Amino acid sequence: MDRWIAPGRVNLIGEHTDYNAGFVLPIALSLGVVCAAERTGDGLVRLRSAQRPGEPVEVAVGELAARRATVPRWARYPLGVVHEFVRGGHPVDGLRLAIDGAVPLGAGLSSSAALCCAVTVALRDLCAPTLTPDDLVGIAWAAENGFAGVPTGVLDQSASIRCTAGHALFLDVRAYTAPGGPEPGAAEQIPFDPAAAGLALLVADTGHPHDLADGGYAERRAQCEAAARALDVAALRDVTDTDLPRLADPVLRRRATHVVTENARVVAAADLLRSGADPRTLGALLSASHRSLRTEFEVSAPALDLAVDAALDAGAHGARMVGGGFGGSVLALVDRADTAAVTARIERRFAAAGHARPRIFTVEPAAGARRLR
Ligand code: GLA
Repeated sequence: MDRWIAPGRVNLIGEHTDYNAGFVLPIALSLGVVCAAERTGDGLVRLRSAQRPGEPVEVAVGELAARRATVPRWARYPLGVVHEFVRGGHPVDGLRLAIDGAVPLGAGLSSSAALCCAVTVALRDLCAPTLTPDDLVGIAWAAENGFAGVPTGVLDQSASIRCTAGHALFLDVRAYTAPGGPEPGAAEQIPFDPAAAGLALLVADTGHPHDLADGGYAERRAQCEAAARALDVAALRDVTDTDLPRLADPVLRRRATHVVTENARVVAAADLLRSGADPRTLGALLSASHRSLRTEFEVSAPALDLAVDAALDAGAHGARMVGGGFGGSVLALVDRADTAAVTARIERRFAAAGHARPRIFTVEPAAGARRLR
């Protein structure tokens, strides 16, 4: 069988801005989900995963929707993608799919989007070669939000499909998701080479899982929508500092404050990378993002704060939680020479707090989803 890979992502900055029509700046990881796939012509979807050896799934193409509730939760992501191709009228006449994922689960590094995107690029090549990368983002997003039933913005899927090695992807989500298709300039590849500047991006997976299907994420989205309604705008993207005092509800005001300031930080970070300035200056924006996520948006968690504080104490230029929050991973920008010291400090603090050892590794801006040759 031929094989395709789609990466997980880490968002440099721009958290909880995507579903507010704002800005994000992710990179793809070299860790990805691999999907081996072939057409079989027998009308069945046969699916297995190396991570779930005891749970192979077999469903008739025509019965995907009817069988949704009966298949294991992990299988709804790949089957959701197949369902979207069927809905789109593409010739899906039977498939064998074998999944093998290397993105840690529940780490806030988009393992589920990587899974959907790996199946999506495979099915593009097998059944629908004329689809554009932006079509693929839409399909993977629809599979996750529809069939899998997990609410997300477009950050994860666009990062997995559109990111390129050596670049951060600056996305203006409103322009990217415009009804007539992405507007010019909505997605921009900005060169970013931390290693060349003597820097490393350190990811610390705290091991405290985050789960988008939990209520916290949906509640934040609802609060953002309520704040936008109260201010009579289409999305919090349209709000500026001076509008914030008009929000009487203190919770909604805090949520909106995060989104407004976070959008400004993403724009500042993108300007900084474009200008060729020393990327160490990104650090202050990362740390400010974390403070805002902790105090205004209230999606951090004690283990995330501990990892951020330990990294900063050990000399990181900046650090913040990444992804939806409530658990998952922290990103720290460190001098390469300090990588071991920052790692050791985080591990020591976790041990002292009685937490299991976190998984800490460096990442570099890697390539997006593709066929493996
Ligand atoms: C999750 C969602 C994304 C985004 C982030 C927070 O990863 O899938 O769409 O909202 O949380 O920035």
